[in-house]
Amino acid sequence: MIHLITGVAGFIASNLADELLARGEQVIGVDCFTDYYSRELKEKNLASIIKDKNFNFIEEDLLDMDLVELLEGVDYVYHQAAQAGVRASWGSNFDIYTDNNIRLTQQLLEAAKESKIKKFVYASSSSVYGDTDQLPMRENNYLQPVSPYGVSKLAAENLCYLYWKNFGVPTISLRYFTVFGERQRPDMAFHIFIKAILQDKKLTIFGDGEQSRNFTYVGDIVEANILAALSDIRGEVFNVGGAGERITLNETIDIMEDIIGKKAKREYKAVAKGDVRHTEADESKIRKKLDYQPKIDLKEGLKREIQWLKVIYK
Ligand SMILES: NC(=O)c1ccc[n+]([C@@H]2O[C@H](COP(=O)([O-])OP(=O)(O)OC[C@H]3O[C@@H](n4cnc5c(N)ncnc54)[C@H](O)[C@@H]3O)[C@@H](O)[C@H]2O)c1
Repeated sequence: MIHLITGVAGFIASNLADELLARGEQVIGVDCFTDYYSRELKEKNLASIIKDKNFNFIEEDLLDMDLVELLEGVDYVYHQAAQAGVRASWGSNFDIYTDNNIRLTQQLLEAAKESKIKKFVYASSSSVYGDTDQLPMRENNYLQPVSPYGVSKLAAENLCYLYWKNFGVPTISLRYFTVFGERQRPDMAFHIFIKAILQDKKLTIFGDGEQSRNFTYVGDIVEANILAALSDIRGEVFNVGGAGERITLNETIDIMEDIIGKKAKREYKAVAKGDVRHTEADESKIRKKLDYQPKIDLKEGLKREIQWLKVIYK
């Protein structure tokens, strides 16, 4: 089988490529190394993958490619490429989000319409829910994102549904709840906090630290993608949360301190616009329909991320 992964040099997609290659699958990966974070980190993500004889890397901006040609012979598409980040999505930056998140998804779906793909898995986000007190978040909740990023992810998710509904493109959208683990993006909280503790620097928490999240280990996200690709289900949306309960940022930093064996120098600042107070996934749908069972809890996943960051910043 041939699997196409968009944004393959990124955090989640490179972990997905690793797993598919470990299973002996053929993988085509595309990435243009957008400048949201360093190319050096993304090249490290790809370092071992690129040596695999079953991996074919294309360095190009997907918006400039002939996507019909790209999808020829492809069985599964995992559309992970996007402009990530809630806090950077305001103002004139929004153009980057409309291009890489909405326009690109629409172009891929147009190409998918002409193709023989078996499944198109779209990386959606818990940010589509917005700031709600309807917890845990269920797939059929009222959706009202509070960041431009969330709006762009929801627009692309809606496009996936409508290409299924109107043209039979076999899409599934997975709403990831804050992902962590090896290769986590350098703008994400855990990466920033662990790096600060390791380097004895101050770490800044936006808000009182009592905001809570359902954190999901990247290996579990990878598993959910593969389950979604292989299932017969189409045209549906699933939450993908992690093993374990919703937990506050303050408690998470306590766990980091325990694992590293050092105290964090915490500094609290005003809440950032677009940040959501709480997220919590209702996972009953994905557990039931895709037989998804997250395996790695917060403590174990944090140990792995800390180990990886110790090597990156040694
Ligand atoms: N990390 C999370 O917690 C999280 C949560 C919810 C949803 N998501 C979604 O998961 C996906 C992966 O996120 P990530 O955290 O791994 O991000 P990431 O920034 O590490 O990876 C995205 C990759 O896509 C590439 N890319 C972007 N636009 C491109 C284009 N036009 N052509 C070619 N390559 C392009 C970038 O260079 C980057 O390597 C994204 O769709 C994101 O919205 C992530």
